[in-house]
Amino acid sequence: MNEQELMVTTNALVGGEKGLLAMDESNPTCDKRFAKLGIPQTEEARRAYRELIVATPGLGECVSGAILCDETIRQSKKDGTPFVKALTGVGIIPGIKVDGGAKDLAGHPGEKITEGLDGLRDRLAEYFQMGARFAKWRAVIAVGDGLPSRGCIESNAESLARYAALCQEAGLVPIVEPEVLMDGGHTLERCRQVTEEVLRTVFNKLYNQRVMFEGMILKPNMILPGLACPKQETVDEVADATVNSLLRVVPAAVPGIAFLSGGQSGELASARLNAMNVRFKQRLPWALTFSFARAIQQPALDIWHGEEAKVSAAQKALFHRGSCSRAARRGQYNAAMEGGSLK
Ligand code: 13P
Repeated sequence: MNEQELMVTTNALVGGEKGLLAMDESNPTCDKRFAKLGIPQTEEARRAYRELIVATPGLGECVSGAILCDETIRQSKKDGTPFVKALTGVGIIPGIKVDGGAKDLAGHPGEKITEGLDGLRDRLAEYFQMGARFAKWRAVIAVGDGLPSRGCIESNAESLARYAALCQEAGLVPIVEPEVLMDGGHTLERCRQVTEEVLRTVFNKLYNQRVMFEGMILKPNMILPGLACPKQETVDEVADATVNSLLRVVPAAVPGIAFLSGGQSGELASARLNAMNVRFKQRLPWALTFSFARAIQQPALDIWHGEEAKVSAAQKALFHRGSCSRAARRGQYNAAMEGGSLK
């Protein structure tokens, strides 16, 4: 493991004033989003959409890294420029999602285990050769009656830790993503309890697997009430709950925490991240930034709709959400950026 190189990459990803763009939807997930809008679910449509994203003017001003999936990292722009080259050309570090997706966990109805450890060492070596310098692995934790189980938390945390150790061995900075889902009617307090238990377990396993905290990034959920919970806390309450939980469980040696958006609107995700930075930035040991997919991409995808003529308008929308996210990471986001009102 080259510790120095890992720390340099980590710092380049989260040390500045930008964040990360997740554009690593698996083919089935991407197709599902395309199907909703009547966009053809083909390899060429997925390539064209990803070209729209990487060619967005100004993207490099907002994001320091972009997470690709296996199909995308092998693709190129229409003019033949590989996406990896197009990204590095505008100062964006290419990353790669390496997990094999969340599958049903045997004996645990309603719970998932993320697969993909078999053969991972060889895949990481190939991705490094292709230019990737960081990786992502997502575990999903459902909240519900009697959920999550200890078995689900332990096995997902173990996989995240083994993945992270393999990444660092290969010279890739691991993004460790244990996502406590927003689905359901649970309260913010329940989300807090579950998230803290999950993160404690994850960091314990990372420690056991000798993962260097200085060369990794945590990608957690914010502490939020379930989408169906009647009580929805204010932006400031969410910011306080989230930061106070993270202060309890995330070691100070971790350089950065990059939130997933998890189904929040772009506006809410920006407002909540902004509040965290405004209220706490001066006394945090780690950077608080973003690694959004939907909260940056969704308006652009809606506008594009698979039509060549809409590419430029879609790119403007993408840049707008990227700029809002960057402002939130700096604690400079405000309603005026959204035309005067926050939804
Ligand atoms: P969302 O921001 O849409 O939750 O996606 C982030 C991500 O990368 C999920 O793995």
